[in-house]
Amino acid sequence: MAMHGLDDDPTPNGELTLQTLSMPADTNPYGDIFGGWLMSQMDIGGAILAQDIARGRVTTVAVGSMVFLRPVPIGATVSVYAEQVEVGRSSIRIMIEVWIKDHRNGEVAKVTEGEFVYVAIDDNGRTRPVQR
Ligand SMILES: CC(C)(COP(=O)(O)OP(=O)(O)OC[C@H]1O[C@@H](n2cnc3c(N)ncnc32)[C@H](O)[C@@H]1OP(=O)(O)O)[C@@H](O)C(=O)NCCC(=O)NCCS
Repeated sequence: MAMHGLDDDPTPNGELTLQTLSMPADTNPYGDIFGGWLMSQMDIGGAILAQDIARGRVTTVAVGSMVFLRPVPIGATVSVYAEQVEVGRSSIRIMIEVWIKDHRNGEVAKVTEGEFVYVAIDDNGRTRPVQR
């Protein structure tokens, strides 16, 4: 499927921040991986990079639109790649791609991508400037 050209790019952009396996507990009622689980992995993978950049606590303030290109089977290696797009006063925009390796056939493919925005916060949950 070549929706939005996402499948045309053959290699991941950004750094690998999280890698895991899709498990039976992460499925929807029909046996494929639940989109919300994938979004959660993206949020975590982006936060790992964002908190490095912010040197401390961050929270997610916004998520851009995303498209799920293909179903994720159980037992696939799920890799989250994150790349800094822009750093503002307190905000950090990160582009996140999710790639899977399907061990049934060895196929590697991008399954989704999206922009997540994190904000650096202090211990009281108030925004703090990111040092650049
Ligand atoms: C994140 C939070 C601390 C921001 O507080 P705020 O009073 O709105 O702060 P500001 O208006 O100063 O915005 C902070 C930064 O976020 C950016 N921002 C705010 N809303 C945004 C949005 N919808 N899209 C993109 N960026 C946004 C602002 O542009 C600003 O960037 P900058 O500092 O680089 O210029 C507050 O909204 C919050 O606690 N939200 C809940 C976060 C959370 O719990 N997330 C987990 C999901 S449940």
